[in-house]
Amino acid sequence: MVLEASDKFATRAIHAGAHVDVHGSVIEPISLSTTFKQSAPAQPLGEYEYSRSQNPNRKNLEDAIASLENGKHGLAFSSGSAATAVILQSLPQGSHAVSIGDVYGGTHRYFTKVANAHGVDVSFTNNLIKDLPSLVKSNTKLLWIESPTNPTLQITDIALVNKTAKGLNKDILVVVDNTFLSPYLSNPLDLGVDIVVHSATKYINGHSDVVLGVLATNDTEIYQKLQFLQNAIGAIPSPFDAWLAHRGLKTLHLRVRQAAITATKIAEFLRSSDRVVAVNYPGLDSHPNHDVVLRQHRDGLGGGMVSFRIKGGAESAAKFSSSTRLFTLAESLGGIESLLEVPAIMTHGAIPEDQREASGVYDDLIRLSVGIEDTEDLLEDVKQALQTVKA
Ligand SMILES: Cc1ncc(COP(=O)(O)O)c(C=O)c1O
Repeated sequence: MVLEASDKFATRAIHAGAHVDVHGSVIEPISLSTTFKQSAPAQPLGEYEYSRSQNPNRKNLEDAIASLENGKHGLAFSSGSAATAVILQSLPQGSHAVSIGDVYGGTHRYFTKVANAHGVDVSFTNNLIKDLPSLVKSNTKLLWIESPTNPTLQITDIALVNKTAKGLNKDILVVVDNTFLSPYLSNPLDLGVDIVVHSATKYINGHSDVVLGVLATNDTEIYQKLQFLQNAIGAIPSPFDAWLAHRGLKTLHLRVRQAAITATKIAEFLRSSDRVVAVNYPGLDSHPNHDVVLRQHRDGLGGGMVSFRIKGGAESAAKFSSSTRLFTLAESLGGIESLLEVPAIMTHGAIPEDQREASGVYDDLIRLSVGIEDTEDLLEDVKQALQTVKA
């Protein structure tokens, strides 16, 4: 299938990287072979030699990711964390990086406990626009953005931050972790950034059965450097996982749109409830950065993640989260099934109380990952669980 430049997202989701094999299989087979025949020494029969370096299923997935992120090149890794590690590993010793403060906990751990071991120092701020001029130095090589942040769903104006950072130091590589939105809702490469990265474990695979990471870029030099490290470090996904993630992303547009529609209804209900202290949802017009959401997200959709503070503190948060019928109490997000968690004692439990409260992660905060079950059923589930706590 030859895609045309005018093909829309859903067409690319189904057909990008979906090559027909010699048998005419409509769905590509899983290629488990670790090595590929050569006709003479150093003369492979086709494009592949050894499966760590490249594999047909990984290549298909990488091509699909590049297409969905409007990038020239895609790369896949054994996890989102491995993709992050490879990007950090590509920086020269003695580099400095700036990161948004509310970055994913595992990324924060890599920045502060691993990257520093090879001489990369990272500064954090929750106000990039205000603090960039004082944080960016001559050796600042990387800026790391996550938008929306986790779990308070703050939004960054990516185009503005990218322009500001590059105005201060033209060598800065700007990276956006787009896990929470998926390529369906936002394409950061279109906003000028250099690399977009995902934990494909979440929306891209979408079925909570694969751990995998991907990135995309338009810059061939960056791609070659990261591809070299992908092979040299060897943190690659198995052909089966690459095949599953590729299958998963074919329905990304349907899943993400449906999750966003339901999440909007739930967020609106929560906003009107007297048992709720505050709601964080980028799709609400009351969100502090809603104007950026309207510019930056497809159709101004807020995504499938909602967080809210419940009345009655940690006790109510525990009661609510063990009273839902359809929302399963578990970490992670972005799957077809709805999940919920209490960040202060689950995903963000390792962060000291004063630091997490400064980022809005109070004991009473509940995070919902809205799945694609029926909208009314999910709304009813939230309503009945809220009835179990005191008004
Ligand atoms: C925003 C974000 N980035 C990166 C990661 C790491 O991805 P993985 O768990 O696939 O290593 C996660 C995992 O939760 C995440 O939420």
